[in-house]
Formats: sequence, structure tokens, C-alpha cells
Amino acid sequence: MPDITAPIDESLVAFFRKNLLDWSARNPRPMPWKGERDPYKIWLSEIILQQTRVEQGLPYYQKFVAKYPNVHQLADAPEDEVLKLWEGLGYYTRARNLHAAAKHIAYELEGTFPNNYESIRGLKGVGPYTASAIASFAFGLPHAVLDGNVYRVLARFFGVETLIDTPAAQKHFAALAQNLLNSSDPAAHNQAMMDFGATFCTPQQARCPDCPFQSECCAFLMGKVAELPLKSKGLVKKKRAFYYLVLRHQGDIFVRKRTGKDIWRGLWEFPQLEGPIQVSPFGAEAVRESEPFRQLLTHQAVTAVFFEIDLPDDAPEEIFKNPLFQDCERIAQKMLKKNIAFPKVIDCFLQNNVLTLN
Ligand code: ADE
Repeated sequence: MPDITAPIDESLVAFFRKNLLDWSARNPRPMPWKGERDPYKIWLSEIILQQTRVEQGLPYYQKFVAKYPNVHQLADAPEDEVLKLWEGLGYYTRARNLHAAAKHIAYELEGTFPNNYESIRGLKGVGPYTASAIASFAFGLPHAVLDGNVYRVLARFFGVETLIDTPAAQKHFAALAQNLLNSSDPAAHNQAMMDFGATFCTPQQARCPDCPFQSECCAFLMGKVAELPLKSKGLVKKKRAFYYLVLRHQGDIFVRKRTGKDIWRGLWEFPQLEGPIQVSPFGAEAVRESEPFRQLLTHQAVTAVFFEIDLPDDAPEEIFKNPLFQDCERIAQKMLKKNIAFPKVIDCFLQNNVLTLN
């Protein structure tokens, strides 16, 4: 295994840099944020692209830029509106952090976007990868990006056979990426690295026969492309069972906003019970039980079952004192999808359920 703390051979560095930029010139990948100089828009694109494929993030970037062309408009938007616009993209903490950081920039930094790595990194929701991307794209600063794509390219090219998901390996890879960075044009280098990793040196179908790095790529030369990078076994997801009560009364549905430290804070849902339950219809006219809907999060696997319950028009007042209705608001059934954002699992249920809930 190469010692990646040792300085890498300068000629190999030069080979890598040149071939990367040449590859990028031959393989243009048009994206609306490419060549963008406005740090606000670059930041927006990078937050959207965290854990998200370009094709999926692109329409969200366009919607956000159209609705909030500058940081002040984003800062002044109600949080529910921002979450609604984010709906479907997942990892909603990103949207809440985006909004909080917009307020910070608008009100405490007088609208001026931070212009150095440390202060960009200090924004809520900005980790080392995003800070490097913004610093290089918006300000031309020499900070190398390092994410799963870059790990893969580096592990293969240099034949690194250590597990990549350990703090020590991460430090080594960060040093390696930084050594390789072409500081005469960090933005072009970083963008090319992202594009090459995402489209060419892919996990399953690396395009080795057409690859400009082939002659020096350790993994290719050792026949180890499919094996690298090495990762330890994936983490075990916590299983959670949610039971939602879709309570309908006089054309309204009861919903409430999730608060607290759990997943989906700020999103809306129906009254919910967790774990094994028995649903007693408490005077309801009908109870329909849905099939299970599933949503995988990074650390959790959620299964949701929905019970649709029609309460009679003349349901006694006591029913609404049941703790299930605590913190609930009534919302006209027709408005359900209009203004508030639901977790994906509820969206799926609503989409599948057009017959009964329309
Ligand atoms: N992923 C994260 N940032 C990106 C960018 N600027 N272009 C393409 N993919 C990305």
C-alpha cells in the first residue's frame, strides 16, 4: 500500500492534474451553477447537492433561485414556505439550516457572504466538503473537495487499500486530495473531480477502457477497480413503526407539526403513535387501514401504516379532548397538499390514496 502521508511523486501529480482538466474539457457537463460567481447561488446549489444526485437537485435549485433570487428573500421567507419548496428532496435539516444561515448572513453579516474557508465552514449546514466547494467556486480559494466520489477516484488511482471510513484514512485522503489540487485553478479542478467521480469512475461501471488515467491507475493495473475503495460493513438502521391516524371530520383533516429533536422536525404529519398499537375507532364510521409505506433514512428505517377514520359530523366534543388531538390543527382536506410539507412517507401515502382523500 502506498504511504499517502509521504509526498507524492511530482510527475504523477502533474499527470493527474493535466489529464483531469483535459478529460473535463472533452466531457462537458452543463449545469446551471457552473461558472456561477454569486456565492449565494453557489452555496444554494451545494446545499441542495449534499446527498442528492444532480438530476434530482436541479429542479430544486431552479425553484429556489426563482423564488429567492438573493439571500434577503430567503432569509425573510417563512420556514414553512421554505420546507414546502424543499418537499420531496429529503434530509430536511438541510432546508432548516439553509434558512437559519440565510438569516445569519442577511441580518448579522449585512448580506455579505463569508469569503474565506473558515467563515464559510462556520455557516450552519456547511461541512468541509461544501466549504471547499464554495470557497473554490466562489472565491477561487485552494481547498480540495473530498467526498465519496473523490475517495473512490483516489483509492483507485493510488491503489489505497485501507478502509476509507476511519478517521485516520479520512485524514490521509484529505491530505492526498489537497496535494493533488491544482492551485492555479482550484474551481476547475474540483468541479472536474466531482464530475469525473460521478460520471466516469463510478462505483459499479467504471469506464476504464476510455479512461485517461489508465496507464497510471494502480487499481486498473492490479485488477482491483471493482474492489476499491474498501469500506467497513454498513451501519445497522434502527427500525421504527409509525401508525398515523388520518382523522376526517366535516371535511377537515387533523394535522400537526413535528417539533423536538426527532427526525422530520418542522414537517407536518397526522396524529401518530409509535410501536405496536390497537386502533379503537372511538365512534368512527369507518376505519381503513393502508398497506405499509416505507422510508429509509440514513440511520433509521421507518414503516408507516395509515388508518383513515371518518368521524361523524355530530361527533361529541369529548372526542377532540383525546390526547391524540393535542397540538393538532384542522385543515380543509382540499388544502392538505397546498401549503405544508410532509415527510416523504406521508407524501407517498397521499399520492397513492387519491381516491379516498381527494
Ligand atoms: N455535487 C456537489 N457539488 C456539485 C457540483 N458543483 N457539481 C456537480 N455535482 C456536485
